[in-house]
Amino acid sequence: MKTAILISGRGSNMQALVNAASPPEFPARVNLVISNNPDALGLKWAGKVGINTKLINHRDYSNRSAFENELDQSLVGAEVELICLAGFMRLLTQEFVSRWQNRIINMHPSLLPAYKGLNTHQRVINDGVRFTGCTVHFVRPEMDKGPIIAQAVVPVLPNDNAETLASRVLVAEHRCYPFALQMVASGKIKIVNNCVLVENATNPEVVIMNPDDKQS
Ligand code: GAR
Repeated sequence: MKTAILISGRGSNMQALVNAASPPEFPARVNLVISNNPDALGLKWAGKVGINTKLINHRDYSNRSAFENELDQSLVGAEVELICLAGFMRLLTQEFVSRWQNRIINMHPSLLPAYKGLNTHQRVINDGVRFTGCTVHFVRPEMDKGPIIAQAVVPVLPNDNAETLASRVLVAEHRCYPFALQMVASGKIKIVNNCVLVENATNPEVVIMNPDDKQS
């Protein structure tokens, strides 16, 4: 499946996807990386490993639809079948999302539908919740909403700050996103009543407690 990755910054999730997709047997191939931000570090990395890159700086466009038209043309021109948002910090309009219905997936650093939006880790810590994590989901026009493909749970530790928590969640993101891409690209996924069904999925049955009741 020809895949494009959209980034705005560092691009560590993009790297995880590119690395996972490099063996020939992986069902997706990363053909294009697009950034809306000229300073995105990820763009340089992608260029260095030989992926086609494109900068579409939203500041060069007078409105959202002009920006998205350029995005759309680049994606269609590269015959892209699936778009992975990886730290892409622009909201996409209803028109764009409808045109790419069920062909855009996103990584969000929380257990959706909890903690949509920005500063997820600090808000998690402020609320004293015991678990957070990350979510890969199909994109809908509403922010951080859409059928959930995969989630990973990360315990919040007593001495966590936003940075320590973010770095542990990031490790989970780098595992979860390639796994989700592999499921989508291999056609194992169906969306029924706005929920994702995964063919032949193995699901965990364990209960994790935090604090751990086995240790107290
Ligand atoms: C990641 O933590 C990703 O989950 C988050 O931005 C970071 C990008 O890091 N995405 C969002 O907050 C989207 N709403 P990366 O550029 O190193 O992949």
